[in-house]
Amino acid sequence: MNKLALGVIGEVAFGYDFGSFDDAAPHELVVRISRALKYINRAAYSHPALEATMFRRDRNQHRDDIEVAQRLVDDIVATRRERDAPGSGDLLDLMLSTVDPATGERLSDQNIRNQILTFLVAGQETSAGVMAFALHFLSTHPHVVERIRAELSAVCPDGDLQFDHVGKLRYLRRVVDETLRLWPVAPGYYRKARRDTMVGEHPFEKGEWVFVVLLQLHRDAAWGADPERFDPNRFERSRVPVNLADLYKPFGTGVRGCIGRQFAYHEVLVALALIVGRVDLIEDTDYTLKVDETVTLKPRDLSLQIRERSDPVS
Ligand code: HEM
Repeated sequence: MNKLALGVIGEVAFGYDFGSFDDAAPHELVVRISRALKYINRAAYSHPALEATMFRRDRNQHRDDIEVAQRLVDDIVATRRERDAPGSGDLLDLMLSTVDPATGERLSDQNIRNQILTFLVAGQETSAGVMAFALHFLSTHPHVVERIRAELSAVCPDGDLQFDHVGKLRYLRRVVDETLRLWPVAPGYYRKARRDTMVGEHPFEKGEWVFVVLLQLHRDAAWGADPERFDPNRFERSRVPVNLADLYKPFGTGVRGCIGRQFAYHEVLVALALIVGRVDLIEDTDYTLKVDETVTLKPRDLSLQIRERSDPVS
């Protein structure tokens, strides 16, 4: 799923082919970014003196990873610049060509490099994680798969999934929403009080931080008697809690909420529709879901079987 998500964001946002669908090994950029995230996840809670001594090798590797990742991204930009042709209007084109209406300035090369790295990190692990969790739930809930296939056949009878179909896949959207409820792949986010304020009955002084624990919020009793159960129907309009907007925040909130939300929904819905339409997902009865956290959440050693269908529906 990581390869798929990288292939999508690379192609759609930057017109760059990471070889996701051709090469068996992951692209070097993925290796470097994954290792850097793992390091950050650990070192953020460590003492700098420890990092400089006991974890010196890790720290040096981390610095090297960042340097190489930046170089690889600079190559993506250089390749586009060299092409010197009118662009496709993708994100990279916009970043290279858009002029600030107030100042007349363009984004600096360093800014573009950092934006690309942000999008590759924020837009890859997250989408990959939710697709992996969804595949687990689908392999363990065959009746849900049947409903998705029925919806696919109704929305897109000739099996040729197009952009306009995706918004009509309401049941599949509920499957994705329910997956993100149980396993919000970005498990929380921070906010800092801009002034002395109350959140419910809890006072916060100006400058104090709060960490919103989505894993807990999404399993609050307000979700009903069985919040741990995977049940896409709880997102039916008649059944969602009245204060849904306060109880469900997988993409964060407000002006700093996830900029890739619609992109992610579209990508994940298309990927799952195609997978479910073309293959059977068979549960590995020896597998029990365990979850890893490397900044984002993902199933650990996910195991299931797939079998190509003789009568694909998408
Ligand atoms: C299911 C997939 C995804 C989930 C669950 C997710 C979740 C989140 C969350 C919780 C935040 C923090 C929001 C906040 O603090 O309020 C965030 C930020 C962000 N996301 Fe996503 N995201 C997903 C996919 C994507 C994709 C596909 C992209 C890029 C195309 C993306 C780009 C970003 C960026 C750039 C930010 C930082 C926004 C800012 O600070 O202004 N995300 N995401």
